[in-house]
Amino acid sequence: MAQSLKGRSLLTLDDYSPSEIRLLIDTAREYKRLKYAGISHKIHDGKNIALLFEKTSTRTRCAFTVAANDLGIAPEYLGKNDIQLGSKESVEDTARVLGRMFDGIQFRGFAHQTVEDLAKYSGVPVWNGLTDRFHPTQILADFMTIEEHLGRLKGVKLVFVGDGRNNVANSLLIGAAKMGLDFRIAAPHNLFPEQSIVDRGHELAHESGGRITITDNLYEAVREADVIYTDVWVSMGEEDKYAERIEQLRGFQVNMDLIRATGNNEVKFMHCLPAFHDTMTSTGHKIFEQYGLPEMEVTDEVFRSKHSIVFDEAENRVHTIKAVMALTL
Ligand code: CP
Ligand code: NVA
Repeated sequence: MAQSLKGRSLLTLDDYSPSEIRLLIDTAREYKRLKYAGISHKIHDGKNIALLFEKTSTRTRCAFTVAANDLGIAPEYLGKNDIQLGSKESVEDTARVLGRMFDGIQFRGFAHQTVEDLAKYSGVPVWNGLTDRFHPTQILADFMTIEEHLGRLKGVKLVFVGDGRNNVANSLLIGAAKMGLDFRIAAPHNLFPEQSIVDRGHELAHESGGRITITDNLYEAVREADVIYTDVWVSMGEEDKYAERIEQLRGFQVNMDLIRATGNNEVKFMHCLPAFHDTMTSTGHKIFEQYGLPEMEVTDEVFRSKHSIVFDEAENRVHTIKAVMALTL
């Protein structure tokens, strides 16, 4: 076989070449087609995978579960209180045990080192379902969605607005640089991504013909944008930072003024979700009471507008995660 990903882990998008990322997205499109056509594709019948979650999840957990079932794989969910990982048993020992029983492991959690160690010691493919540093499977779905709506990835002007140093921004930066997008991060200076990631992005963009811009000039950044992307201002594990982030990011909300400032009537809005676009959650309600903000990173108007493709993006998590498991197991 010319290109095989069998046995590979996915810890960051930098583990994969642009042509391998292309293969993953194309495979996801094919699995989406098969699913819509009702054609069974249980190519991994009889296999078992472990889904390790230190943090909560809706999309990633459900996407791995549904994709596994569709491929004939039995998924086993292991939440933070279900196993000893790191508390009464080392990550190394846990990885060795799970590797003896399961054909693959998904990990979502805090330290990126944990997912690295699981891959190092388990001997089976390990997929990063989000760490403090990266969220690679999210970006595969994002790119698939952009291609569905715009017909291309190369040269697409994608602007991430908000906490420019979080896991989603970091992964978008690496992925966009690999796939030749014109990627911009608009964030306040103290929320710029780490320099080593920016440097790597420039290096990759040089090879792909892409472009990476990091700026605090929001309105300049979104000019002629094809896609505006945002994420929560406070990521999981940073819950003590609301006051600080609201202060820093108040001016970086995605609202209709910002959408209009792109000058592109067809601009798309994306968000990995979950999103704080109203007060219909207990956290959203608390933020409203405490800080007077009824919406945070995106207004309800933009979230529900014709620009928003967030639910296509969420659905594509299942097709892309399926492609990852189909090809790496
Ligand atoms: N986008 C995303 O990863 O969502 P969950 O946190 O619900 O998995
Ligand atoms: N940056 C967010 C992404 C959630 C999918 C977080 O880590 O909480």
